[in-house]
Amino acid sequence: MAKKKGNSYICSVCDATFPTWMGQCSNCESWNMIVEVADDYLDSSKADFSQPVDEIVATFDSPPVILSDPEVARAIDGGIVAGSTLLVGGEPGIGKSTLALLLAKDAVASGGRVLYVTGEESKEQVAARVVRCGLETDGLEVIATSSIEKVVSTKSKYSMVVVDSIQAIADTSIDSPPGSINQVRQCSSLLSAFARRTRTPVVILSHVTKDGSIAGPKQLEHLVDAVYVLEGERSGSSRSLRSLKNRFGRVSEVGYLKMTEGGMIADQDFVVSALIDRRSGAYGSAVTAIRDGLRVRLVEIQTLVVPTGKESPRRIFNGIGSVRGGMIIGVLDHYIKLRSEKFDIFVSVAGGISVDDPAADLAIAAAITSAIYKRPIPREVGLFGEVGLTGEVRRVGLAYERFSELLRYGFTTVVGPKLGDLDDVPLRGLADVRTVSEALLAGHLIKSNDDLV
Ligand code: TYD
Ligand code: MG
Repeated sequence: MAKKKGNSYICSVCDATFPTWMGQCSNCESWNMIVEVADDYLDSSKADFSQPVDEIVATFDSPPVILSDPEVARAIDGGIVAGSTLLVGGEPGIGKSTLALLLAKDAVASGGRVLYVTGEESKEQVAARVVRCGLETDGLEVIATSSIEKVVSTKSKYSMVVVDSIQAIADTSIDSPPGSINQVRQCSSLLSAFARRTRTPVVILSHVTKDGSIAGPKQLEHLVDAVYVLEGERSGSSRSLRSLKNRFGRVSEVGYLKMTEGGMIADQDFVVSALIDRRSGAYGSAVTAIRDGLRVRLVEIQTLVVPTGKESPRRIFNGIGSVRGGMIIGVLDHYIKLRSEKFDIFVSVAGGISVDDPAADLAIAAAITSAIYKRPIPREVGLFGEVGLTGEVRRVGLAYERFSELLRYGFTTVVGPKLGDLDDVPLRGLADVRTVSEALLAGHLIKSNDDLV
């Protein structure tokens, strides 16, 4: 193949450049990784030349795309950085394409152009989604193609490229169908090399398999700089964007979003959405703040107790582990003489939420006690803390976040352990306790003259 004027061929693995195309790179021996690029782009890939460090810092320093949605910005901590590849996984229909448009909007808002590569839908379908979401369209270009070569050899400068999706795009030089492991790996390598070479951030959308892992080889996650999953019930409108890997910011961040008729937006009420149907003054109901990534959300623990005639009464736990639940009942029997053996006990986290956070222990203990003693927990009391087998209330992570989120949502008394580094500062609203008995006293569930051990 003769060298075209102004173009070169570059290996996506080792960045070696060649005047002509080759099947195998003569430098690193990788197969099918050589792509054609405009010579302009080679200027920024001076990997094999020494360079003053100031110059390198200057190219590295391009500002990240500023994310306007507070929840998206929270999840994508550090922003979308020049030259990086970012993978967004999610089930079909969950809202990946809609989210990608939100990111594209932010990239054009900072004055750039965005290339939206659609391999799944027609250009018209993408345009219809843009209209539906009411987005500013200046600077947004759409191409319908399934050819990776077209994308990585583009001669225009973009401030972001979106690939929708990695399963719908292929390298024609390899003999595997789109979506196959080889194709997904090949296309991801080419895209991340393209991103580095051109300093363009690339957003790659990917379907996830049923077990929740990103489709394609595990290597896909290593080829990119950041990995996010968009999750939620397709029938409902709540979505969460969760980071699994992030080279530029905090990982495990979660952004709460919701699908509306006109696009995806921040769902700042998500923190309390599980409490909407909570009944006032009911026995057996306790509210706690559980960890979700680096944030907390409020959930209601519900307990129902029924006198039992059986020798081994029933213990049914829904949304919490039965070992944890059994241990908490044991602690209550021992330290406040609960006599739980007289009851069948059902404990559930309202709203079908699963709680794997020891900080919910105290609320579980309070809900069970409340149900057995038929004493409602005052509506404005929230609880958190891990319960230990010696009856102590143990400190937990994110204590300050749990405390302040409960206060923010109207819980004027928060019963929990002392807050880590704020030992000596009395906090209005915090009833700090050291034992389960103290906690149940503070929650008005037992009285000081009750039969305590
Ligand atoms: P989409 O972004 O196409 O999902 P994915 O790319 O993950 O397959 O969105 C899927 C669903 O969201 C679709 O059934 C329609 C709905 N939707 C809304 O509710 N509001 C909107 O503004 C848009 C664009 C889509
Ligand atoms: Mg889509």
